[in-house]
Amino acid sequence: IVPVITIDGPSGAGKGTVSQILSEKLGWNLLDSGSLYRIVAYAILKNHINLDDQVCIEQLIKSIDITYNVTESSTEVLLDDKNITNYLRDEKIGETASVIAANEIVRGYLIQKQKDFAKPPGLIADGRDMGTVIFPNALLKIFLDASPEERARRRTKQLQDKGLDVNIDEILANIIDRDQRDRNRSISPLVPADNAIVIDSTNLSINDVVSYILESYAL
Ligand code: CDP
Repeated sequence: IVPVITIDGPSGAGKGTVSQILSEKLGWNLLDSGSLYRIVAYAILKNHINLDDQVCIEQLIKSIDITYNVTESSTEVLLDDKNITNYLRDEKIGETASVIAANEIVRGYLIQKQKDFAKPPGLIADGRDMGTVIFPNALLKIFLDASPEERARRRTKQLQDKGLDVNIDEILANIIDRDQRDRNRSISPLVPADNAIVIDSTNLSINDVVSYILESYAL
């Protein structure tokens, strides 16, 4: 059995950074499940498919080919052999990902793809339903949260560091909107797994969170 640590929670809680550090420290594989929803969102936008068009979405999802090119320093995402890594963090893609993440066909299609990441020596799985749906038998389940204001502040800084011109109020509105969609959808809603450790990171640094998780893992 491959050991899995799941890190679930809302946008901007620090899951991505924490998961990356944990996978490096433990030498384990990393699943950024949000990137799979972003890839599908990219393909839907690229093909000008209406987000309500179930038939077209199903056809598209059956025909796309996702591969990962993992090197020591980076992970490239290839969609039908095209490297789309640099497009995926776009806000428009994130918003579309959040809408199609409520689609049953899309979620169903991604289940096995996500499970396939569980390879030795272990896996850090970052997402919304890692502990509740994809890896219910995970060794350790974390639910990482923070206040919406703090999450908006972090996301704004992250985008500004990339040289983007962003407005914190818009980001906060967007975060609240996405939280609502993720928490209220009928399929795989964002909730802590029954046996998850809930960490409120509003006043914690990334290092505090990483140490806390490593200590919980060692217990
Ligand atoms: O955290 P952030 O909103 O920046 O994006 P992400 O983690 O890359 O995920 C993009 C969207 O995919 C989220 O807003 C969720 O709606 C959805 N998602 C999901 O439903 N289930 C997952 N396991 C991961 C992401």
